[in-house]
Amino acid sequence: MTDRVLKVAVLAGDGIGQEVIPETLKVLEAATRGRGVRFEWRECLVGGASIDAHGLPLTDEVLETCRRSDAILLGAAGGPKWDDQPLALRPEKAVLSIRKTFGLFANLRPIWLPECLRHRTPLRPDLLEGGVDMLIVRELNFGLYFGERGRRPGPEGDIEAYDTCVYSEKAVEQVARVAFDAAGRRRKRLMSLDKSNVLETSRLWREVVIRVGADYPDIELRHQLIDSATMVVVQRPTELDVILANNEFGDIISDEASVLGGSLGMIPSAAIGPRPPFFYEPISGSAPDIAGQGIANPIGAILSGALMLRYSFEMEEAAAAIEQAVRRALEAGHRTRDIADRNEKSIGTQEMTRRIIEAL
Ligand code: IPM
Ligand code: MN
Repeated sequence: MTDRVLKVAVLAGDGIGQEVIPETLKVLEAATRGRGVRFEWRECLVGGASIDAHGLPLTDEVLETCRRSDAILLGAAGGPKWDDQPLALRPEKAVLSIRKTFGLFANLRPIWLPECLRHRTPLRPDLLEGGVDMLIVRELNFGLYFGERGRRPGPEGDIEAYDTCVYSEKAVEQVARVAFDAAGRRRKRLMSLDKSNVLETSRLWREVVIRVGADYPDIELRHQLIDSATMVVVQRPTELDVILANNEFGDIISDEASVLGGSLGMIPSAAIGPRPPFFYEPISGSAPDIAGQGIANPIGAILSGALMLRYSFEMEEAAAAIEQAVRRALEAGHRTRDIADRNEKSIGTQEMTRRIIEAL
């Protein structure tokens, strides 16, 4: 029988993206060997790398390659070198365009704290008793990120700037369903974030979430204002299961919650929508402070690869095998610098990957 060909647009991008993505491909190859598939990696420039080569963070040609692929894997986009670019030409614009072009409205960000890293979070260990295992479902196509924005004459003869936040019922409903479905497969608790004491979009958000919730009577739904939710995340993290948030609140709460996973470098993400290609990336960003040194933690990217196997290719076994291998490598004491104790020996990106592949 001939192997199923899996076409993946590989956008390593900037900074540590260049280091963690090649390692991720190695793990994906190893985890799928003998499972009747063959990867076709289509490497493209994106972000700052693309600005340097073509003057644009994302070219039509690369977007077309993404369109004709089954999935998209990205390392990171951005870095101090391109900080002076106007908004529309910043490296990050590539990420936003891919999410929007393919209608990838739901961003899944699982945050899980391995027991052996419990002491690495800034929280008191007793607050983590019972373990951290949450899933942030962030809306990804609307809100402040995509509303009308600009500058105009201000009231005092000066300039004012504006960004607008827009959410339709349909936009809220589709992401809420993803969150409720996920909660149904997990511990059946959903915390929806909003600022409904002030914002009209948040009032609509809450109404629609309640309406959708009626279809999921077995899910315990609670609403939390975003400001107090930032406290809940660090005060009672073990009680949290699925967190549903709009684009901007989800962006902020996921960085806060990532601290509970031991390191930002450990957290993967998947952006999904009505049809492929879906989009996978670690949430760490390009980490310019450590880029080029071979010390970045590859786990966030590798776990993103596992999510790709699960959501784009229905290869649950191989996905779970990667997650298991990461767990084993950590339990065996292998640490990149971001998760090593001061007196502990740390290993580089490639060595960490080798350990994970060994554990496979
Ligand atoms: C993230 C990032 C992006 C976002 C940036 C790079 C545009 O912070 O994925 O969380 O704000 O969505
Ligand atoms: Mn972010």
